[in-house]
Amino acid sequence: MTQKKRKKKPIWKRYKLVWPAKNENAGSGQTRRVVRRKLRLRKEAIYALLGIVALLCLIFIPRAVQSNNLKKLGYKKPEIQAIREQKLAKTVLDNQYYSPYLASSIVNKTLRTDYIKFYAGMRGDRTLSNDEFLLIQRLREKGYEDTQIINLLVNLKNWEITPLLVFDYQYNEQYYIDDCKSQTGNSPTNFELSGSYFTPYLDTHPVDDPDSIEKLVNKTYYLSEDFVPEQLTGLSNLYAAEGRELAGLAADPFKAMCEGGRSAGVTFYTTSAYRDYASQETVYNSYVTARGEDYANTYSAKAGFSEHQTGLAVDVAATNEDDKKEFKDTNAFRWLSMNCMNYGWILRFPEGKALITGYDYEPWHYRYVGIDVAKAVYEKNLTYDEFYMLYLKPWEEGYKPADDILKATDFRTAAEPEAAETPKAEESPKAS
Ligand code: DAL
Ligand code: ZN
Repeated sequence: MTQKKRKKKPIWKRYKLVWPAKNENAGSGQTRRVVRRKLRLRKEAIYALLGIVALLCLIFIPRAVQSNNLKKLGYKKPEIQAIREQKLAKTVLDNQYYSPYLASSIVNKTLRTDYIKFYAGMRGDRTLSNDEFLLIQRLREKGYEDTQIINLLVNLKNWEITPLLVFDYQYNEQYYIDDCKSQTGNSPTNFELSGSYFTPYLDTHPVDDPDSIEKLVNKTYYLSEDFVPEQLTGLSNLYAAEGRELAGLAADPFKAMCEGGRSAGVTFYTTSAYRDYASQETVYNSYVTARGEDYANTYSAKAGFSEHQTGLAVDVAATNEDDKKEFKDTNAFRWLSMNCMNYGWILRFPEGKALITGYDYEPWHYRYVGIDVAKAVYEKNLTYDEFYMLYLKPWEEGYKPADDILKATDFRTAAEPEAAETPKAEESPKAS
C-alpha cells in the first residue's frame, strides 16, 4: 500500500483555539498540559505573525513616506528609483534638493555627489562639468559662499565669472550679475562693466614664485625691489634696440620669434625689454608728470608691479613698414597675433579686457610664459590674470579640487588649439 504524503496544514489550522478551563482543577493533569501546550503554540504563531507584519510596516511605510516626499519635491518614479539605488534619498530629502538637472544627472549616473548642492541649484540649460568644478573651488578659495557661487553660475557664463578671480571679493554678487547682464556688447573677447570691482594696488601680495616663468605680475602681485631675473642676457641688435636684455629663459624664445617672423616676411625688434625697479619708477613717474596719475595707471605699472622687471616681457616695434602706421595696423602685429603663442609668448594686455588686466590695450607688449601656457591662454580667450588665477595659482589648503578634476582640466594635456584668427585692433600704440 502506497503511503500518501499528508499535506501539511497551514499554521492557523494546525492549532485549535482552545482556551484553558476556568477552573484548571476541573480537568485531569494531562488535559491541563495539552491545553497549556496548545495555548503556547497558538501564542507563538500570533507573535510570529505580528512580528512579520511589524517588519513589513517598518520596511514599507517609511519607504512609502519617502517616495511620497520625493514625489512632492518633484521627482518622478524612475528618478526616485535611481535616487534609492544611489543611496541619495536621505541627502536629497534632508536638504530638499531638487532641480530637473539634478534629477536627470542622477538617472544618467553622471552626478558628482560632492557637488550635489550645485546640481540642485542649477536652472535652465546651465550644466556642470570639470571646468565649473574648478571654477567653484577657485571662487570658494576667494571667499565666495556656495549660495553666491550658485547665483553666479545660474546667471552668468564662465567668461563673465573668471574676472571675479582677479577682482576684489564682491559681497553683493547680484550687483555684479546685474551689471554683466546689462552689457549687451560683451563677449569672450570684449568685457565691459559700468561699476568698479577692482581697487588697484590695495590688497597686494608678493608674487607666488619669483623663479617661475609662469609668475603673475600685475596690480596685485609684485616683485621685490631687489629682484633681478636669472642670467640676464643681452640681445643682438638684430632683435633689439641697443643694450636691451631679457631673462636667460626668454632670450632664445624671443630670437626664435623674431626669426619666425622674418621667414614669414615681417620684421620687428624690441624697444624695451628688462627694466629694473629703478628704471620702472622713472618710466612711471615720467608718465605721471606728463599726463597725470590716472592716465599713467592705464599704461604704466608702478615700480615692482611691472612685468618688465621679470625680464620676460618685451615691447616691440615693426621695421620696414610705414612709419606712420600704428603698431596695431602693421603686418608685424598681424603676424604676432597669430603666431606668438607658438614661440611661448602672449599678448598680455589685449583689446577689450582693460578692466581685467588693469591696462589699456597694448598690442606691442608680449610676455613669455612658455609654449604650453601661451597656447592655452590664447585658446581659452582669457587674460593671463584670469588664466593664472584659475589654472596656475598654488592652491590654498583645503580648496584643491579632486585629482580627477585637476587632470581633466589640465591644459597641458589638452588637444592642440585650432588655427587662430587675427584679433581686431584699433587702439593706438604707446611705448610702455
Ligand atoms: N606697460 C606695462 C603695463 C608696464 O609698465 O609694465
Ligand atoms: Zn611693455
